[in-house]
Amino acid sequence: MSEPQPIYLSDYRPPAYRVTHTELTFDLDPAATRVKARLHLERHPERQAGEPLELDGEQLALKAIAIDGQSLGEDEYTLTERGLRVEQVPERFRLDTEVEIAPKDNTALEGLYQSSGMFCTQCEAEGFRRITFYPDRPDVMATFSTTVIGDAASLPVLLSNGNPVERGSLPGERHFVTWEDPHPKPSYLFALVAGDLRKVEDRFTTLSGREVTLQIWVEEENLGKTDHAMASLKRAMRWDEETYGREYDLDLFMIVAVNDFNMGAMENKGLNIFNSAAVLTHPHTATDAAFQRVEGIVAHEYFHNWSGNRVTCRDWFQLSLKEGFTVFRDQCFSADTNSAPVKRIEEVSFFRTAQFAEDAGPTAHPVRPDHYIEIGNFYTLTIYEKGAEIVRMLRNLVGWEAFRRGADRYFARFDGQAVTIEDFVGCMAEASGQDLDQFLRWYSQAGTPEIDAHGEYDYANGVYRLVLRQRTPATPGQPDKQALHIPIRLGLVGTKTGRDLALTLDGEALGRDAVIHLREDEQEFVFTDVEEAPVPSLLRGFSAPVKLHYPYSREDLAFLLAHDSDGFNRWDAGQRLALLALDDLIAAHRNGVEKVMDPRVVEAFRALLDTDTDDKAVLAEMLTLPSEAYIAEQQPLVDVDAIHAARLFVKQSLALALRDDFLRVYEANRLDAPYAPEPEQIGARSLKNVALSYLMSIEDEEGIELARHQFEADHNMTDVRQALTLLTHSSRGDLADPALRAFGEKWAHDPLVMDQWFSIQVTRPQSDALDRVKFLMDHPAFSLTNPNKVRALIGAFAQNRVNFHRLDGEGYRLLADVVIELNRLNPEIAARLVTPLTRWQRFDEARQALMKAELERIRGEELSPNVFEVIEKALA
Ligand code: PHE
Ligand code: ZN
Repeated sequence: MSEPQPIYLSDYRPPAYRVTHTELTFDLDPAATRVKARLHLERHPERQAGEPLELDGEQLALKAIAIDGQSLGEDEYTLTERGLRVEQVPERFRLDTEVEIAPKDNTALEGLYQSSGMFCTQCEAEGFRRITFYPDRPDVMATFSTTVIGDAASLPVLLSNGNPVERGSLPGERHFVTWEDPHPKPSYLFALVAGDLRKVEDRFTTLSGREVTLQIWVEEENLGKTDHAMASLKRAMRWDEETYGREYDLDLFMIVAVNDFNMGAMENKGLNIFNSAAVLTHPHTATDAAFQRVEGIVAHEYFHNWSGNRVTCRDWFQLSLKEGFTVFRDQCFSADTNSAPVKRIEEVSFFRTAQFAEDAGPTAHPVRPDHYIEIGNFYTLTIYEKGAEIVRMLRNLVGWEAFRRGADRYFARFDGQAVTIEDFVGCMAEASGQDLDQFLRWYSQAGTPEIDAHGEYDYANGVYRLVLRQRTPATPGQPDKQALHIPIRLGLVGTKTGRDLALTLDGEALGRDAVIHLREDEQEFVFTDVEEAPVPSLLRGFSAPVKLHYPYSREDLAFLLAHDSDGFNRWDAGQRLALLALDDLIAAHRNGVEKVMDPRVVEAFRALLDTDTDDKAVLAEMLTLPSEAYIAEQQPLVDVDAIHAARLFVKQSLALALRDDFLRVYEANRLDAPYAPEPEQIGARSLKNVALSYLMSIEDEEGIELARHQFEADHNMTDVRQALTLLTHSSRGDLADPALRAFGEKWAHDPLVMDQWFSIQVTRPQSDALDRVKFLMDHPAFSLTNPNKVRALIGAFAQNRVNFHRLDGEGYRLLADVVIELNRLNPEIAARLVTPLTRWQRFDEARQALMKAELERIRGEELSPNVFEVIEKALA
């Protein structure tokens, strides 16, 4: 096999032929499914006559081919590993093909495959070519008519996109259903499901009065776990009507839960397919976080019906057009339905840990990449989350009203089309009258901009000068960076009053909370009539996806933590304060000096514990120390052990100093009411569980009793999981082992709960974590072909920083062994799993060498394009 080659955005051309209508017939069989396709094709008006027809197709056994009813002879077409080519075709014609495929052998989970006995499909990005020969690219949009034939007894339910129009029985105990989807769509939105499924049904009436039937299809044992997804779906439908004026456009909307799925979920037209982990919930099996994730993903996939399906992407370089916009939409929805400040804190703390790391590593890429080898590798945090941050900046730049007019324009103008990021931003520019040319650089430039800020107060004149300098570090293939247009929301907090001061910039009154625009490499902003010396509160709400450096003293940070009017920045001040203290302790640990806790941090936390807030979820976030991963992100060179020791030391010091406060907070936030995934309860539970984690960090006797009791009381999974985690992660085997055993036995039948059981064990800091991974890989509930299991066991272990980064290299070796095996079974998952090894530059020499050796060992294998691309970048 030759080396996989990159494709380039600049090579884009419309397809030579487009498909106006697609008729498919599936005759389902695990080992030999027959797929008949009848494509109605015509020459693309922008392409010349006489060009050959080229169709994508992989792993298909061609059984028959005809054009306009005439079978083609073997010399009239060419088959390659990548597809089918017919040299001479008419201007308009009908192509009939028949192929055979083997769903039961499909472990890559792309195309048509089997999961727990049912048949299902995954076609984004390029899975449809494993189902039939087709121009498998998003700018070919056709209406579909699909007939599914299957065994009547084992496959009673036969689903596809659109509306069912005909059904009946067939000889040999078989039956069929025909589905019609009137909305033209690209092949990546095609879906088929067949199995022994049960449904939960509900109804929704759109604002204009259309009656929509809502169905969630699951295996029988999961019938009790769909309520939350259904309620979330209805809330999302209403929200999109009220917020964007977008209604649903078919009579039927279906969700199916499948156990084997590479990603979270998929927005196929009218037939969303979900990883069961992203849709099923029950108070006893799912945590608050899982309930919120389900709500967000259900909304995300539903919102794609407009941002993605009705208006789709011209090519896969534009992926963020649909994903960035849709993530932004689901973030706003979740903020509206939950605690908005805590939602933002969660988004940003995840973003700054994971996306910043991606942007600083060897696989860094722009939100719109200009080339790729395997598009499956580009479903990244950069495309999704940074893409969403860019859309959020746009919303903030032009204001919600202009943004909404721009969105209306975009949906109206491009309905039924496949378009580009310029088309989207262009609508925003038109609707707002703003020049967004410089802003567009956010899409083409990789890397995280860093801003150095410096401020000075001139007492005599009441003037505050703020100097901002921006630079974006080089990323692979992009050595030189240009200045970006960066919106910075800020306030000046008066040190006497603790209040936001009035802002006057260049003679213009901006209120007390304003956005300034950094466009140059360096810019000075002079605020006049500043009545008192301020502490600047910069980048409020994380108004741009950048790293902002300002030489805050610890006193400044404690002040902002107490007084900033922006909740997000209050939280961030606490994080910065903790990071400064952690820096000292990391240094102390490395130098073998005794660690001393900064009393200012203790006092700041004491004050937090004394505040009487009604947003408990925010308080819980404020009491949460930066994660080891985020601390590592701040260090020039990652010292895994020093970071772990320093963080533990801070946590234990706080627990010792504030033990009674944590106990009080715990008691004050116990709930007896029946479980509900509602913001108030969630806030109380988080606060209580944070308090418990402090008490357990010092293995406080009373804390241990509370944890044990919380575990045994078995009130809801949020509490049980936290208690089990704390017991398992304690140093006392007498606490960990009985709880793990009881839990494992109780939930052996429930795969989603067993995933949690796996993760909890392999993330414990004790040195037996690696042995546990090996042991658990032989557990009957584990399977290498199930992505959820791989993530729960292997993926989670790679997040266990002290153990994955063991100095004997055994953690790296284990990961590489699994990647090598998965490279054959499921390349998409293999390529994702290898990520932690690609970050070798961040570590000390000994670890670098060990990590690189494992990457080299992987490179020695016969690699899928997915793993090949990642490994080449990592070793470049
Ligand atoms: N398009 C899906 C989403 O973001 C994600 C996905 C991509 C699922 C590729 C499967 C395969 O909603
Ligand atoms: Zn999406």
